[in-house]
Amino acid sequence: MVSSSLPSPPRLCSLSDVAKLLRDGSAKNVIVMAGAGISTGAGIPDFRSPGTGLYDNLAKYDLPYPEAIFDIDYLEERPEAFYTLAKELYPGNFQPTITHYFFKLLQDKKVLSGVWTQNIDTLERIAGVSDDLIIEAHGSFASATCLRCGQIYDKEDIRSEIMIGKVVRCQKKSCKGKKDALIKPDIVFFGEGLPDKFFERLPDFKSCDLLLVLGTSLSVGPFNSLLNKVSKNCPRVLINLQLVGESTNPQDSDSDGFKFNLNSTKHGEGEGEGEGEVEGSRDLFWKGESDKGVEELCKLVGKDWEQDLKRLREQGWSDLKKKKKEDNRKEESEEGENQDGGEAVVEKEKKKKEEEEEGSSEVKVEELTKAVEQVKL
Ligand code: OAD
Repeated sequence: MVSSSLPSPPRLCSLSDVAKLLRDGSAKNVIVMAGAGISTGAGIPDFRSPGTGLYDNLAKYDLPYPEAIFDIDYLEERPEAFYTLAKELYPGNFQPTITHYFFKLLQDKKVLSGVWTQNIDTLERIAGVSDDLIIEAHGSFASATCLRCGQIYDKEDIRSEIMIGKVVRCQKKSCKGKKDALIKPDIVFFGEGLPDKFFERLPDFKSCDLLLVLGTSLSVGPFNSLLNKVSKNCPRVLINLQLVGESTNPQDSDSDGFKFNLNSTKHGEGEGEGEGEVEGSRDLFWKGESDKGVEELCKLVGKDWEQDLKRLREQGWSDLKKKKKEDNRKEESEEGENQDGGEAVVEKEKKKKEEEEEGSSEVKVEELTKAVEQVKL
């Protein structure tokens, strides 16, 4: 990371101006703020999109209110709902989107200062962004913890139980049979604190020289207040299906009055057309899917960025496909071995029984012969 100070805020009128910052080296410390919208392309629903969002589709869980699915008190009271959802969302079934590979590209170009994500799907990691550059503000499925004894588990340790929709409980001696010994994936539930890393890395925003906000409604704090952590000169770009982050309601303590400085008359005129103020401001809104937005941005930066993004995505998807095939093959051969092994054990036991029976009949014959001989005598 290189520290930089901008003399005056760059004026952003279009995505080309953002591309220029990346091309001419003005943007050396890029911070990404991401939300569920960047993963919808992978088949994971977001939370609040009307109709398709998770909170509109929880009827089958019979919840008192939608957010109860991530409420720590509700989890302890009725854990079945969360574990049913966990089965659907568990990492392993989804592959990163173009947007996730764009983050990896920023890392490869050595301009990425951090990806601050609210997502729990671990797709940034799968795309190859290094752990050090990912701040999972709301935790993730990568690990899990027993709520009773604090034992930490890897996501793979509990995968098989999650996949059959079971409420996963700790089997340690002190926890066995205890109702509150739930092994909960390390997702931040409502009512829980954010990970330490979130607070430790806040100073990174001071040196940020380009903030990219993608696929989030910015409706959850304190994450949404990160928008205000960058300097007054830092250009901020929102790539989203809809304009968000305009809250100035002083009653909304989480929002802290954060907002993008946009001229609202120019919003929503079609994909990619929701630009900044006519004369340009440090903020820009690009309306549309994040995958399309980042592809367009890379194209505008230059041929090398465009090709590198394509290569990363193709390589990434092909590696995942190969890995999936290998895993399936391994699983099949393990099942086969178990079956063979099972047959071998049955065969061995049968033989042993026969030998024992043969042995015992030999003993019986011997005993009988002896008895007959005795009678003869
Ligand atoms: P939301 O569902 O609240 O917002 C997603 C935003 O992304 C919306 O503004 C959509 O219009 C937009 N969107 C959807 N698909 C998109 C796409 N392909 N490209 C660009 N934009 C798209 O999700 P978050 O803001 O991430 O908390 O929600 C924040 C938190 O609320 C989550 O982390 C979760 C939830 O309660 C926990 O899990 C603890």
